[in-house]
This record gives sequence, C-alpha cells and structure tokens, in this order.
Amino acid sequence: MLSLHTVADLHAQVRAWKLRGLRVGFVPTMGNLHDGHFVLVDLACEHADKVVASVFVNPTQFGPNEDFARYPRTLDADARGLSAHGCDVLFAPDVAQMYPFGAGREVQVRVPGITDILDGAHRPGHFDGVATVVARLFNMVQPDVAVFGRKDYQQLQVIQYLVRDLAFPLQIVGAPIVRADDGLALSSRNQYLTAAEREVAPTIHATLQAMRAGVQAGRALPEVEAAAARRLTDAGFVVDYAAIHRADLSLPAADERSGLVALIAARLDATRLIDNLIMD
Ligand code: PAF
Repeated sequence: MLSLHTVADLHAQVRAWKLRGLRVGFVPTMGNLHDGHFVLVDLACEHADKVVASVFVNPTQFGPNEDFARYPRTLDADARGLSAHGCDVLFAPDVAQMYPFGAGREVQVRVPGITDILDGAHRPGHFDGVATVVARLFNMVQPDVAVFGRKDYQQLQVIQYLVRDLAFPLQIVGAPIVRADDGLALSSRNQYLTAAEREVAPTIHATLQAMRAGVQAGRALPEVEAAAARRLTDAGFVVDYAAIHRADLSLPAADERSGLVALIAARLDATRLIDNLIMD
C-alpha cells in the first residue's frame, strides 16, 4: 500500500489507474480505524479494482466545544489495518493540502433542509463541514464508487443529496453498522467512555429495538419517541434526540408504519453517541 500526502501525487496515481481502465473505490475516514471502517474498505474492494482510503481529521466539521483536539490520531496503526484489508492507497493530507487558503477561508458546500434537523440542529455547521470536505475529497480522489457507513445515517443522506445535486459522477454505497456483541455500534468515540459508561452504552441499541417493537405494535409514534427518551434518561444519558423519521428523514404521518428509521443521539458525560435502526 502506498501512503500519499499531496493532491498532486494522488492525482498522478489515480490518473495512471484510469488510463488502464481501472475502477477506483474510495473510503473517506477521520482515522482511528476499527472494524466498522474495515467493513467499508472490504466493500470498496468488492466494488472497485483499486481502493483509496483517506485519513483526515477535518477541523471544519467540529464545533468550538467539540472533540477536535482530542480526537484520536493513530496513523501508523491505521496504515497497517488498511494494508491488511487490501487498500491500495492511504491518502493522508494535512490541513494546508485540504484547505490551501486556510480552514475558515474555504469555499463551502451547504446542503439545505436535511442538515437543519437531528444532528444538524444539535451540531450547527457540522454538516457544512462534512459536505465541504467530502466534495473536496471527491475532487481529489475522483472515485467511481465511495463507501459510507450507515451508522452516520444522516451523513449518508447528506452525501447522497450532495452527489445528486452537484452531479458528481460516482456511485455511493452504504455499509452496514458493525456492533460489539452487546449491541453497541462501533465508533472511535467509544474509547472516551469510562468502564461504567461502557456498561451503560448498549442501552442505545436496546432502546432502538424497543422503538421498533413499539412501532410494530401500533403505538403512536410520539409515544414511542417519548418512552425511548425516558429510558435513556433513566439510564444516565442526556438525550439530544430519540426520533422516528421516514428513510429520507422527512417526518412520517401519524399512521405510517413502514419505511421508517429510528435514530438516537445521546451523551454520557462528554461523549456523544449516535445510532439508528431501519425498522422494516
Ligand atoms: O464519517 C466520517 O468519518 C467523516 O464525517 C468524513 C465522512 C470522513 C468526513 O470528514
């Protein structure tokens, strides 16, 4: 596996592949890779001849009081894991490569509507940073297919909107959520949890399952959401949302029972966890 750090070197490599008619797959990450990421790489390998994974902790998608400074940076271990999973190029640019005019002076990409709700409402500006960096990464890597995890459900919707609206010539593939044995969705942020918090954290997945059972039993959606928020609060979480939406994140009608997704964002002390469950 090659490690590249500049856009010029990456463009040269991708151009050489494309001249040979090879299909390029892409997995964007912020590093600190775990099995949830490696599933994305495996999927990219299935869909493409050559795979690029990026590692870039993107400053523009973190709010002022969020965990940008302490976000775990483990590039050497990431490189070993990527190589073991058949990745061809690790692209690890610095901030100057990603934002030549400086972070804060960058051309921004803003997806309207779906970025104002759920995580967008609780993390103002977050999805602007995500859309901005992903658009840049697509221009840098020029992939034929890009793989994103379904754990970041709203992010996947934002990316699909972005790709369609800006006519990026690539296919987006969503990868399944990888969970620990007790149901906790794998996330780099899990390592912030204390041992006691780690015990409590699977309540999120259990609550999503209870939401699905409530919907399938025909209970009113607001009642199911309120019961979920109560359960999480009782377990010690501060709840940002426990919500039921349509798959496209619009709001369902009162009697809608199919094509729904349950989404939770909740904090244990300073650690914010998100998860979701497609109900059908
Ligand atoms: O999901 C992530 O890790 C990030 O939001 C992404 C897509 C790599 C953009 O920085």
